[in-house]
Amino acid sequence: MLAIDLRGTRALVAGVADDGGYGFAIAKALAEAGATVCAGTWPPALNIFLNLLERGKIDAARRMPDGSLLQFEKIYPLDAVFDTLAEAPEDIRGNKRYKDVGDFSIAGLAQRLVQDFGDRPLDIVVHSLANGPEVKKPLLETSRAGYLAAVSASAFSLVSLVARLGPLTRPGGSFLSLTYMASERVVPGYGGGMSSAKAALESDTRTLAFEAGRKYGLRVNTISAGPLASRAASAIGKIEQMVQYYAANAPLTEPLTAREVGTTAAFLASPLGAGSRGRPSMWTRATTRWGPRCMRAICCKTSSVVRYPSSVKGSAVTDDGRRTTDDVHHRCPDCASVGHVGDQSPQGADGIPP
Ligand SMILES: NC(=O)c1ccc[n+]([C@@H]2O[C@H](COP(=O)([O-])OP(=O)(O)OC[C@H]3O[C@@H](n4cnc5c(N)ncnc54)[C@H](O)[C@@H]3O)[C@@H](O)[C@H]2O)c1
Repeated sequence: MLAIDLRGTRALVAGVADDGGYGFAIAKALAEAGATVCAGTWPPALNIFLNLLERGKIDAARRMPDGSLLQFEKIYPLDAVFDTLAEAPEDIRGNKRYKDVGDFSIAGLAQRLVQDFGDRPLDIVVHSLANGPEVKKPLLETSRAGYLAAVSASAFSLVSLVARLGPLTRPGGSFLSLTYMASERVVPGYGGGMSSAKAALESDTRTLAFEAGRKYGLRVNTISAGPLASRAASAIGKIEQMVQYYAANAPLTEPLTAREVGTTAAFLASPLGAGSRGRPSMWTRATTRWGPRCMRAICCKTSSVVRYPSSVKGSAVTDDGRRTTDDVHHRCPDCASVGHVGDQSPQGADGIPP
């Protein structure tokens, strides 16, 4: 029998603060496969998470198939926008949510792991965190500070984690992150520089896979997950509509569950996923061919690539989550012929590279 066996390994999942997101589901799947799991939790959410655990509020979600409860070996405070404690401004260090938790930077996390478990304590690192303070704003209205904050928290944090935890990870180990299709398709509503951050995350995954592969013998992958109404995603404001859209249009119409992404992560982190590195694994139930309508088509008269702004015909999603006919056919703004805007292959419409 082919089974995912992670017994004897230790994982660090950065970005767990409740039972509603991908990080929790990944932690649980890794534990079910036999891994010992530590968590990295954002200081503003740390006390809430510890309370949820202590008061048994998420015991149902923690319940494992054998009846036991998912245990976190350690829960570390982690603010992934700071590489070292010295970089954190005074008002953050003095903030009531931060001042008593010790070194919450990425370097601090690395130091604590070594103190607690020795020089090479890790086998699996999962980056399941993102933050875009202006996510509700269209890119055109995003400030420089908001854009850079999104990229810092959601993309550079992975680079820093690989740089600082790579040397602590045993050869053959695995880094994983979570990305979203807005990196390559226009998804109205996923603003504030978050689409740019996901594009950076994916590009960095390729480069990090090469560099960390050569330097430490590690694999680096990212999972492109479909929409899930997690706490972070609810901040987008349209997440329920996005879930409905996928359910209405994807080849498999059951909504994606966090568990499916969790088990994919466990597979990729295990020796069974050893052949995968540096590429997004699409895990959307919508396959690589689907994305909200808009963006790109071939004009049937001029054969040029026609790019449609996301404002053409407004949203791609109807009130009840269906795709409209009008989303599929648009007029080419150049020659007024009707173009087909659907069915982009991973190579791009009609073989034109995306
Ligand atoms: N939910 C979706 O629809 C969806 C789709 C595709 C990809 N993703 C990605 O999945 C990952 C997990 O998100 P989720 O949707 O499961 O939500 P989530 O709320 O469970 O996870 C996000 C976590 O990031 C943490 N965080 C925010 N800023 C941080 C910082 N500076 N340092 C450390 N931690 C910080 C939050 O406390 C939270 O625990 C993210 O990368 C997200 O972009 C989500």
